Amino acid sequence: MVGVVGGSGIYDPSRLEGSAEETVQTPYGPVQVTTGFLEGGKVAFLARHGRAHSIPPHRVNYRANVWALRELGVSRVLATAAVGSLNPAFRPGEFVLPDQFLDFTRSRPGTFFDNEVVHTDFTQPYCPALRAALEGAAGEMGISLVNGGCYVGTEGPRFETPAEIAAYRKLGGDLVGMTGLPEVVLARELGLCYAAVAVVTNFAAGISPTSLSHQEVLDLMATQTGRVLDLLLKTAAGLPVDKKCRC
Ligand code: HPA
Repeated sequence: MVGVVGGSGIYDPSRLEGSAEETVQTPYGPVQVTTGFLEGGKVAFLARHGRAHSIPPHRVNYRANVWALRELGVSRVLATAAVGSLNPAFRPGEFVLPDQFLDFTRSRPGTFFDNEVVHTDFTQPYCPALRAALEGAAGEMGISLVNGGCYVGTEGPRFETPAEIAAYRKLGGDLVGMTGLPEVVLARELGLCYAAVAVVTNFAAGISPTSLSHQEVLDLMATQTGRVLDLLLKTAAGLPVDKKCRC
């Protein structure tokens, strides 16, 4: 089964057929998931910030969310994320598939391995096969997309300072967002394939000529919601049954 994690602006699972609401109990708390069918395949949809967009990035129960997907039988996760851009080549409205991350989150439970010594390989944090599938689907749909970029995960909920953004840029960051971590880490710890479609909503602080607002992020996302969902659902429907990656 494919899991879809909808970030800011992506809450509506209505395109699934025969959809049903489920509350999945996990060791980290209950999670509301919508399951349904897409061209015959089963999909589980989860709104990262809750249906009413009421859970801020640093309070999202990432462990419960990822555990719930695995519990339902999900083996591949397609996520969305609104991001600011540090890279002049990635303009607002652009879709980017991160292939690396820098983790600057601070206060979030970031692992399932709290009581045993497990060191998970993160040479390829985002599944290359899922990224290729997203790139292929985007090509067929005429959606321009960049496959590769370094995602910087920040703690939020405040936006960054221009000094922080300048530092992240020097470190090799291309995109900055508050929700991509530790989600990608937790998915890998459970052996799930994970890829994220980062939607650039703004240039980051100090690069943007204006101050930043949550409203501009939501406004830009609103213009892209349909395209992102189309891309995720087309990708999900076309995934081969067999996995060839090492996630
Ligand atoms: N910074 C952090 N998170 C974000 C941004 C940003 O500029 N834009 C959208 N999510």
